[in-house]
Amino acid sequence: MSHPLEQLREDALREIESAGDEQALEAARVKYLGRSGSVASWGEQMKTLAKEEKPVVGKLLNEVRTAVTNAIESRTAGFRSRKESGALAKIDISLPGTPHEIGTLHPLTQMWDRSIEIFRRMGFALADGPDIEDEWHCFDALNTPPDHPARTEQDTFYLAEGRLLRTHTSTVQIRTMESAPPPIRVIAPGAAYRNEEINATHSAQFHQIEGLYVDENVSVADLKGTLEFFMRELFGADTAVQFRPHFFPFTEPSLEVYVKSKALKGGERWIEVAGSGVVHPAVFEQVNKARGDKAYDPEKWSGFAFGLGMDRLAMILFDIPDIRYFSQNDLRFLKQFA
Ligand code: FA5
Repeated sequence: MSHPLEQLREDALREIESAGDEQALEAARVKYLGRSGSVASWGEQMKTLAKEEKPVVGKLLNEVRTAVTNAIESRTAGFRSRKESGALAKIDISLPGTPHEIGTLHPLTQMWDRSIEIFRRMGFALADGPDIEDEWHCFDALNTPPDHPARTEQDTFYLAEGRLLRTHTSTVQIRTMESAPPPIRVIAPGAAYRNEEINATHSAQFHQIEGLYVDENVSVADLKGTLEFFMRELFGADTAVQFRPHFFPFTEPSLEVYVKSKALKGGERWIEVAGSGVVHPAVFEQVNKARGDKAYDPEKWSGFAFGLGMDRLAMILFDIPDIRYFSQNDLRFLKQFA
């Protein structure tokens, strides 16, 4: 007569073999190998057996456990591979794959990065300010009171509570001086907004890099040297730079910056690229009032500032005929700057 353990093995293997799915297989595993399953309870019974029976039954029990475990593992593997090949069957590996489009930096971003890199070499740090400003930072602190005609020239988009979209990045000059004493040497790249008739060279949102340098004995010569170096690094050593007298309420004297370079399309034409000048003492006085000290004593400190039109510079450098291309998101345009 066969031992009941042999019967158990036979039953277990039959049940495992006939399990129709993973759930049924798991039920069989719990029934035979679980903590209170048949194999475990035979392990308990071993303690009650006579001494001479123990080695025989112990060996048989081990064989049964191994056989049942192997059978379950083999059926588990079978179920798993069936599932995987089912999933693979839905994939047609002969179809062409989906190509991943690799993007490129926007031409304005490229212009921005190049410019920042050049100013950094001259020791300028980065400064920042909000696009949504108040009138004081955008105009009053920059020596442009409410009745000043320059306000009409820079009409913008007004929001509630006297807030507005900044018309230039010169606001960051004021914010920087409010928060730190001289000396100052910063650039502030950012967007500016104007309620403007949009055409090939004017946009309602455009980009500038503001520069501010405040120290003892800063003069127009420093301003010219800095911007000439910048333009030649950007457009090539043969670039000619011209400074023409202009008017800004916040600088005195004020200068517009023009460049001419053989490297540029249109060659020998002078192109206006920036506004600049020596910081007006009235701006220092406004900053002192806001700070509540005399940190920017105009008798001791002087400075220069400039505002470069990034869109214009990128148009010249990359020979782009219309400023509107920058914001139309046309891949045929953008891919040319890869
Ligand atoms: C200013 O904005 C002054 N804040 C610049 C300045 C800074 C002067 C510090 C002195 C000291 P202006 O309005 O000229 O100046 O603009 C400067 C540059 O921004 C222009 O040369 C031009 O390149 C660019 N710009 C101005 N308006 C637009 C516009 N609507 N679309 C595209 N670029 C513009």
